[in-house]
Parts: sequence; C-alpha cells; structure tokens
Amino acid sequence: MARRRQLYEGKAKVLFEGPEPGTLVQYFKDDATAGNGAKSGIITGKGVLNNRISEYLMLKLHEINIPTHFIRRLNMREQLIREVEIIPLEVVVRNVAAGSLAKRLGIPEGTRLPRTIIEYYYKNDALNDPMVSEEHIAAFNWAAPQDMDDMNQLALRTNDFLMGMFTAVGITLVDFKLEFGRIWEGEEMRILLADEISPDNCRLWDSKTNEKLDKDRFRRDMGRVEEAYQEVAKRLGILPES
Ligand code: C5P
Repeated sequence: MARRRQLYEGKAKVLFEGPEPGTLVQYFKDDATAGNGAKSGIITGKGVLNNRISEYLMLKLHEINIPTHFIRRLNMREQLIREVEIIPLEVVVRNVAAGSLAKRLGIPEGTRLPRTIIEYYYKNDALNDPMVSEEHIAAFNWAAPQDMDDMNQLALRTNDFLMGMFTAVGITLVDFKLEFGRIWEGEEMRILLADEISPDNCRLWDSKTNEKLDKDRFRRDMGRVEEAYQEVAKRLGILPES
C-alpha cells in the first residue's frame, strides 16, 4: 500500500492523510521532549503504550457521551481520527498543585487544591505556550464564548470521570492537558476532544506512595520512564501486544 501523505509532524506524533475525507491517521512516536524542546530523548515503547492508553480512555469517555476525535485504533502505533480544526489552546485541569502552578504560586507540590482549577495556554511554540486568560481568548478570537463554555464543561466532565477511573486503580489524577477541535456537520459546529490522553500529558501519582507514573520522570531525569507508563497501562487492565 502506498505510504500516506504526511500532513504534520509534532514532537510526539505525526498526522497522515486518512483513508476517507474528514479522517486522519495519528501516529505515536517514541520521541519525548520537555521544556518546549529544550530537552529531548527517546522513551522506547512510549508510542505503543500511549496509543493504547489514549484509545482506552477516549473509548471510555465516548461511553459517557463526551465527544472525541477518536474513531478506532489501526495498529500498534496508529489510530484513525476525525479531522478537526484545532483550537489553538491547551486546556490544563488541576486537582493537586504540581509543576508550573506549584512553582508560579509557591504552593508545595502535592497540596490538594481547594477546587479544580482550569487554565488556558496559547499554543505557540515560538512563544513557549504562554498562559492566557479568557479575556485574551475572547479579544483575539481564538475561541468564541460558546466554545469556551463547551470546552470548560467537557474538561470538567472529563476530569470527574478520569479522576474516578484512576482512583479505582490506585492512581491520583494530579493534573492533565486537553486539546479541542471543531467539526462542522452541515450548518452545525461541534467541539470535540482531540489530541491524546496519556502519561505524556497527565500527571499520575501512585495514590499510596505518590510515586510519579508519568512524563515528569523524563522531565526530571528520574529514570524508569517506560516502566511507569507500563504500570499505568497494567493498572488500567491494558497492555500492548508483544
Ligand atoms: O507544566 P505544567 O504544570 O503547566 O503542566 C500541567 C499539565 O499539563 C501536566 O499534566 C503536563 O503534563 C501537561 N502539559 C502538556 N503539554 C504542555 C504543557 C503541559 O501536556 N505543553
């Protein structure tokens, strides 16, 4: 079969033209970067694990009527997705202080937040994805007020669901990043959850020991990165085919 046309290559994924109009093939690489490319490396097997974990979580989200771009997994490293117009925002949901929030506000990592916090970052590598407010988003028309309502609602529902699911397998969902896209069905526009949900874009801590089971192991040179991703897959009851 002819190699599909590559449309976009990101830090951890590649997008190819899909078999039908309105579809794309999302390929998961083993490449890892941190600090917007300041640090880079390979985590062997990461792409295979993230493909499986993201498939599993998006299918579970479908079951509770959260619309996502996921159609089906094609093989170890590829999944078929719906083509969307990506909204240029990273939506971060936080339950426990960690990472940039802990640093910026001087709150010790691991402090449970008084309530769930949603933050927005403008997707722009050249600017290092700066944090922005709803004021900026409205003023620069990156998303309409209705889009923001939809994204906030979907982000909070996703958080509630994933938090419960991870708690059940002994994992604390500390925070995570979501991306959204638009699709048009006739005259109607809908917002879908896009990108991936995996240990690359979630902070996942063992509930008993607070051991990190996510990309912070790579960002902070803690070692045993692939093993941590495998542990997440194992606890969710999925493991890659050997
Ligand atoms: O670094 P920070 O604390 O802001 O990250 C919050 C959450 O968003 C973490 O789960 C991190 O993995 C995720 N994130 C991401 N991609 C980025 C920035 C953050 O997936 N570019």
